[in-house]
Amino acid sequence: MICNNLSVRADGHLAFSGVDTVEMAQKYGTPLYLMDEDRIRERCRTYQLTLHQAFDERAQALYAGKAASFRQIYRIMKEEGMGIDVVSSGELYTAASVGFPLKNAYFHSNNKTDADILLAIEQGIGYFVVDNREELDAIDRIAGSFGKTQNVLLRLTPGIDPHTYAAVSTGEVDSKFGSAIETGQAKEITAYALQLSHVHLAGFHCHVGSQVFDSDVFLRASAIMLEFIARIKQEYGYEAEILDLGGGYGVRYLDSDPEIDIAENIAQVGRAVKEQCRTLGLSLPAIRMEPGRSIVADAGLTLYTVGTVKRIPGYKNYVSVDGGMADNPRFALYRSSYTVLLANRAKDAEEKPIFRCSVVGRCCESGDILQEDVPMPQDVARGDILAVLTTGAYNYSMASNYNRLPRPPIVMLRNGKDFLAVCRESLEDICRNDL
Ligand code: LLP
Repeated sequence: MICNNLSVRADGHLAFSGVDTVEMAQKYGTPLYLMDEDRIRERCRTYQLTLHQAFDERAQALYAGKAASFRQIYRIMKEEGMGIDVVSSGELYTAASVGFPLKNAYFHSNNKTDADILLAIEQGIGYFVVDNREELDAIDRIAGSFGKTQNVLLRLTPGIDPHTYAAVSTGEVDSKFGSAIETGQAKEITAYALQLSHVHLAGFHCHVGSQVFDSDVFLRASAIMLEFIARIKQEYGYEAEILDLGGGYGVRYLDSDPEIDIAENIAQVGRAVKEQCRTLGLSLPAIRMEPGRSIVADAGLTLYTVGTVKRIPGYKNYVSVDGGMADNPRFALYRSSYTVLLANRAKDAEEKPIFRCSVVGRCCESGDILQEDVPMPQDVARGDILAVLTTGAYNYSMASNYNRLPRPPIVMLRNGKDFLAVCRESLEDICRNDL
């Protein structure tokens, strides 16, 4: 199995985190997001421990909430002592609503509105990760109106191609995010930040991309950032306290995907960063990393019920399910790969004659595809339960009500027990805001 929290029971049902997925489908209905809370906590601990070992006790992992944002996630992050990265007032509000200590929150986004900035400062946000000069001015002004000095990091683009898909590649010079080191704009915005009265420049941030497997991406990014920090120290006598290296470690969606040893990778970055600090005469900054996908992706799977099975002889086969691009738009957007299994007959695909099909959703759109060329037993039929694996990241958080489909619930699995974390939307919920 692609991940060790999956297994097949004697009755052929797929088990996730030791729990029978078919029983979950019967109990909560489909479509259904299942999340393995034990796995999420395990990943948080790995990141924290590894960062402390590779750097020092000041190093901190910030969970990137954009991967999956709902109250229970922030309760977990609070209990695990993680920091968080938020990108909107909505994520901030969700975290604050369960008492997440916002001094450990970092507010991202390339275009924070005045309303975002106001809310975040009112709520006591720890840091803004500032994208551009207009934003810096707005933070200075709004913090000043509260008589506060606000901690900020500046987001810089180190000019690195992380070899991932274009939609998630962010570290290149022409990116919409941050200020480029290469063009001199990073230096300009640093000098500008240093002379503002209600902003305290705490350090620098970069994030080069997501679903990254190249193990040298973080090495190259940290090297460029440290050189920049050294140059700024020389010119302005300012030394960064914090260096945030962003998120991005890739996860396995298919058996054929490579496995990245995150702990070893971070240890390697730790050695290189310490060495480079010595060479450049810098003190080791407090390191931050912002993992999203690698914390929650394989802690999630989605269950669907099969409806129509359509065979078009000489052409294609379609298996339609009761969800689709509204709960998982990633194939429609990026042609993302997923592993799809028949959850109520997980062994049949190995034992019975196979046919290849597109697993499609129920939206009125041909692009509503979850996965193409999926092997299924020939006799797959209405009522079977399908599991799409590794959907814990960027599924619920990217879900929509397209075609007025209610969003599925999220059920957490903890110590072999299941409980609802997000309720299924009802038809009333769908028109709640309509007048
Ligand atoms: N930090 C920053 C500033 C980011 O922009 C991101 C992701 C992360 C951290 C977390 O990266 P991760 O560890 O999750 O790779 N919707 C796309 C992914 C967008 C990623 C955006 N930024 C997808 O479904 O693949």
